Amino acid sequence: MDLGRTDVRTPQAARDGQAPHPARDVGPTRDTGAVRELLGALSLEQKIGLLTGADNFSLPGQPLIGLRPLVMSDGPAGVRGAFLDPADRSSSLPAPIALAACWDPELIEQVAAQLGREARAKGIHIVLGPTVNLARTPFGGRGFESFGEDPVLAGRAAAAWVRGLQSAGVAATAKHYVGNDAETERWTADSRIDETTLRELYLAPFEACVVEGECAMIMAGYNKLNGITMTEHTQLLRDVLKRDWGFAGAVVSDWFAARSTVETALAGLDLVMPGPHGPWGAELVEAVASGAVSESEIDEKALRLLRVARMVGALGGEEPRAQPGPRADRQVLRRAAAGSFTLLRNSGGALPLPRNAHSIALLGPNALSPQYQGLGSAQVGAAIAVSPAEGLRAALGEPTQLTVHQGCRTWLTTPTPDPQLLTEPATRAPGARLEIRGKDGGLQHTDVLERPEVTWWDPMPPTVVRAEIRELTFRTTYRAQAPGPHRFAVAGLGALRLELDGPFEEPAPVVLAETAPPVEDPIAALSQPFEIGTVLELDEGDLVEVFASCDPSGHDGEFTRFQLGVIPMPEEDALIKEAVSAAQSSEVAVVVVGAAAGTESEGYDRQTLALPGRQDELVEAVAAVNARTVVVVNSGMPVLMPWADQVAAIIQVWFPGQEFGHALADVLLGFVEPGGRLPVTIPRSEAGVPVGRARPVDGALEYSEGLLVGYRAYDKAGREPLFPFGHGLGYTSWMFEGLDVPIGPVHAGADVEVTVTVRNTGRRAGREIVQLYLSEPEMGNVDGYPQYKRPIRVLAALGSAQAEPGEETHVRLRVPARAFARWDGETHAWVHPRGSYLLQVGRSSRDLRLSAPVLIG
Ligand code: BGC
Repeated sequence: MDLGRTDVRTPQAARDGQAPHPARDVGPTRDTGAVRELLGALSLEQKIGLLTGADNFSLPGQPLIGLRPLVMSDGPAGVRGAFLDPADRSSSLPAPIALAACWDPELIEQVAAQLGREARAKGIHIVLGPTVNLARTPFGGRGFESFGEDPVLAGRAAAAWVRGLQSAGVAATAKHYVGNDAETERWTADSRIDETTLRELYLAPFEACVVEGECAMIMAGYNKLNGITMTEHTQLLRDVLKRDWGFAGAVVSDWFAARSTVETALAGLDLVMPGPHGPWGAELVEAVASGAVSESEIDEKALRLLRVARMVGALGGEEPRAQPGPRADRQVLRRAAAGSFTLLRNSGGALPLPRNAHSIALLGPNALSPQYQGLGSAQVGAAIAVSPAEGLRAALGEPTQLTVHQGCRTWLTTPTPDPQLLTEPATRAPGARLEIRGKDGGLQHTDVLERPEVTWWDPMPPTVVRAEIRELTFRTTYRAQAPGPHRFAVAGLGALRLELDGPFEEPAPVVLAETAPPVEDPIAALSQPFEIGTVLELDEGDLVEVFASCDPSGHDGEFTRFQLGVIPMPEEDALIKEAVSAAQSSEVAVVVVGAAAGTESEGYDRQTLALPGRQDELVEAVAAVNARTVVVVNSGMPVLMPWADQVAAIIQVWFPGQEFGHALADVLLGFVEPGGRLPVTIPRSEAGVPVGRARPVDGALEYSEGLLVGYRAYDKAGREPLFPFGHGLGYTSWMFEGLDVPIGPVHAGADVEVTVTVRNTGRRAGREIVQLYLSEPEMGNVDGYPQYKRPIRVLAALGSAQAEPGEETHVRLRVPARAFARWDGETHAWVHPRGSYLLQVGRSSRDLRLSAPVLIG
């Protein structure tokens, strides 16, 4: 197999009538002749040594050929770095679901380019993103990391993201290939997907990343696909990805997903992560010696790795100097956040708010504890985070009185206290003393932490071997700021202990001890750790001596999690009452509700779509006393909104990243239009969701709905969602005036150009997203896929119009030939059925304004 540039072909695209995508300098696709020669200098052992990680987040270098270590970082919503380094924090971007809500590939490309620059500055060569699994079900814990429920929108967004990131000389990694669309039993679940559905839905965004984006890396998931583990899936890795799509980069395993030697090596996996241990190394050397794996297989893997290394400047010559410490441009992130905010309802023009309002009550748990990001590996240690209160305060003039109330409680893990309320006993510094002891009882590390928490992502000094940790302890004194009940808790993986001593009435000291039950998924336990705690009644100024410990040795010591939490616990009825009375005496009530920390995370799916805690009750109580109630929903995936028709306005803000507060003020006060359109359907009830909790049965997860995911299912069943896919309001109004399509038949396999004419009929300038949906002709039960299971219409193209009041503008859309194709499960190829297709354009999947037939002949 020739691994040079000639290997890069796009037969699929060519068969579909699209020109093969030209190789650009950013992809790992340049001629590899010189790179191939380098391999001659290495022994088999040395070549195999390159293919397993050196540690959690890097691949080893090899000075003999001028290869420097390749450093990786998670990154779909910000580049964490190989560790959560407090001295080198990160920009926190709008989550991918928010970027998808922008329906704006150019903006996504700009945001990802910012991320690429920051990655380079942190010394990162490979970013582990984008996540291009589909949001098959709104219960999916990791849906916030996806680009939504539609393969065309996800593919456009993902390819733009890859192009943007790679333009900074950093490799992107599209993950998790493929069928890893939920978290329950994610290490083993067998996703059972028919061929047509796999090609038309779940593979499509990966194909876009490879063919349109020239993505340098692909990550093979933990799951099985139709019975075969993805890291061993020859058909999908070798045949589809590498042969059919011409993928020239490297396939890396998801962390610990490579579980065999020969099978993974033969199937087309190129890199095993993390390291240094794993199933390759000496076992793979032996497999080559025994003839089970050929040396040319190893060469191919090493060559693919070297191509990526060359692309990111880690091979030969000097490492390109990173520009010193640029963080992402805050204006771009602010624009993207506002561009993603999706205005779902705006009754009586409640928004934008009057800029001279005399009083605004800002209410709700997420007004004070916003969720900037979802949890799991996508999490970053943000350098900056602007809360809604800070954003509004900065934007509002002096005369507006802004009152802020929490309204109710939603946290799952007791939060760490304000460092100023903690005193480390020896130094009297704010915070807590951390000590880490090894299995021999010796002190390995000690430090004072302002926030008493340690996670797997934190850097550990070289003296600490994670797997050897015997005990972590925190010691501090807590000072109560106000009288009342306070909760003290310790959370983590392992045997936990909490000792409290002070002037409280319980028999002092209080001692609690319990061992966390075994965990199925360590990442899940990082986001929602087991916790023990107690509530103490304290007076203002009371001092409580706190000692907390965690012995992780009974658990997988690789995964550290240990947190001390303290929080005042006022009566929740009183919190709601306070919020309601603030709403009553204010001109406007803005209620910021949403996910709590840990509601949406990698490692588990949601059990319910309802807002956590008493938030629904809070919204209803506030709406009952203030007609101008605006609800801001801060969640990655849809939540139920039983109060939707009781409030004046609803705006979905996703997980918006660090610029949350500024972007919110921009949109609420009308400096900027909310730009978002839903990339996922918002259901009316849990029962109405087409694909509910994705729970495998006996290890198998049947994708029995086939192509009918998200809006496709609602349309087919004639069921009304609460807010449909594609929905989102701006601050002006639009008229769709014309749809020009080709007259006469279009050659099967060719793209179709259409022009849509829209007019801004409102009173302010604005931007409209023009959405084009396509319905195929009735073809009966052909191609091995029954017609009754095919969607009524699917998104086929998108574009945008910018216009002044009264202005008319033309939007040209290209409907790619692929939109008119379907996968033939009998011949295993794309076919382009002839016939009359209906094109419909409009403002959402349920607000279609114009239609026209196109004859494919
Ligand atoms: C996740 C990946 C992530 C990797 C490294 C895995 O558990 O599934 O998305 O990139 O960990 O953090």
